[in-house]
Amino acid sequence: MSLTRLKDGFRTGIHSLDYEHRKLVGVMEALCDSFDRAGSTREVSELFGALYAEASAHFALEESIMREKKYAFYDAHKADHERLLDQIRHMMEAYEDGMCADCGTSLRACLEAWFAGHVAGADAGLRTLAE
Ligand SMILES: [Fe+2]
Ligand SMILES: [Fe+2]
Repeated sequence: MSLTRLKDGFRTGIHSLDYEHRKLVGVMEALCDSFDRAGSTREVSELFGALYAEASAHFALEESIMREKKYAFYDAHKADHERLLDQIRHMMEAYEDGMCADCGTSLRACLEAWFAGHVAGADAGLRTLAE
């Protein structure tokens, strides 16, 4: 799933989460645009910081909704959030010198795999919690 498709098409049906997913995609698009324009810069690292902060807050909100609704797959979903935050920290370092030190793919492709994969997989299960 591309970032654009995620922003326009994917819905859990829980408005606060859908709103935040769109907001996160907006930060990722700004980050990719900044990176494409200028490579690794102060702006890129600030946007990485913003993405990390927004993602942490978003995951905390999702986890509180899952706890409140006694979601059966809470533990696995939370573990995936923790893995995603580790990956963002790793990406921040990998892209410091202008390209991914590990996979050689674009930052956009890395972020799509990072976020869209989780949202299309684990977050799709949250539709069962929407009222
Ligand atoms: Fe999410
Ligand atoms: Fe999630």
